[in-house]
Amino acid sequence: MKFIAVANQKGGVGKTTTAVNLAAALAEAGQPTLLLDLDPQANATSGLGLAPEAGGSIYRAMIGERPVQQQIRPTAHERLSIIPSELDLVGCEIEIASLDQPQHQLRQVLQPLHEQRTFDYLIMDCPPSLGILMTNSLVAADGLLIPVQSEFYALEGISKILDLTQRLREQGLNPGLQLVGVLLTMFDARTRLSQQVMTELQQHLPDQVFNTIIPRSIRLGEAPSFGQSILQYDPHGVGAHSYRQLAAEFTARLQ
Ligand SMILES: Nc1ncnc2c1ncn2[C@@H]1O[C@H](COP(=O)(O)OP(=O)(O)OP(=O)(O)O)[C@@H](O)[C@H]1O
Ligand SMILES: [Mg+2]
Repeated sequence: MKFIAVANQKGGVGKTTTAVNLAAALAEAGQPTLLLDLDPQANATSGLGLAPEAGGSIYRAMIGERPVQQQIRPTAHERLSIIPSELDLVGCEIEIASLDQPQHQLRQVLQPLHEQRTFDYLIMDCPPSLGILMTNSLVAADGLLIPVQSEFYALEGISKILDLTQRLREQGLNPGLQLVGVLLTMFDARTRLSQQVMTELQQHLPDQVFNTIIPRSIRLGEAPSFGQSILQYDPHGVGAHSYRQLAAEFTARLQ
C-alpha cells in the first residue's frame, strides 16, 4: 500500500479536486483506494457527498480514542472509501503539538492500514498551510503530489514545500519521501501565462512535472456542489478524461 500526500501550502490550487478525482479514478481502474480528508474545511468529504459528522474524522484516532479502521466510510464509488473530515480537526493541531513526537502521530496511527492491505492507495488531501497536519501527512507519506495552478508565483509556492520536504528528509523524519510529481491544474491553453508557467516548471523541475495536465473546466468546478466526483458528474468529459489519464501516469510512476 502506498501513502500519498496531495499538498501545497498555497490555497485554491486544486489539491482537493485532485485528491478526490485521482482517488476516484484509481478506484475505477480497479485499485482499492482510501481518501483521507485532512483539511478541517472538509471539502473532500462534502465533495463526495458525505456530511461531516461529529467524531467522524481522523482526529479520534490521532488522540488514541479509536482505531483508525473505525473511521473509514464507504462512498458512492465501488472500491473507494474515505476517512472524512470535520471541524474538530482544528483541535487536532493543538492536541498533537503537546506530544513527544508530534510529527509522527499520523504515521503511527495509519500503520495498521499498511499491515491490513485492504487498500492499494491512501490519498491524503492536505490543508493549505505548512502546519502540523501537513507535516504529519508528509512524514506519513511514501510520495508527494504537488498540484500547481497555472498562474504567476506558482514556482515560489513550490519551493517552500520542496524545502520542507528536504528538511524532513535531512532530519531523518522521512528519509524515503519521494516526489511523485508536480501537476499543472486549471490550465488554459489559450493564455500565454499558462504556457509560460508550464515551460518554467519543466525547466526548474525536469522530469518531475506530470505529462498529464488538468485543464480549466466548468464541470470540474461544478461537480463538488453536487457531491460527486467528476467521474460521476461528467464521466465522458474532458475533466474525467484527464483525471483518468493522471491515474494511469501516477500508477506507472510509482512502479
Ligand atoms: N481544473 C479546474 N477547473 C475549474 N475549476 C477548478 C479546477 N480545479 C479546481 N477548481 C475549482 O477551484 C476551486 C479551488 O479548487 P480546490 O478546492 O481543489 O483547491 P484546494 O487547493 O484544495 O483549495 P484549499 O487550499 O482551499 O484547500 C474550487 O472551487 C474548485 O472547484
Ligand atoms: Mg482543499
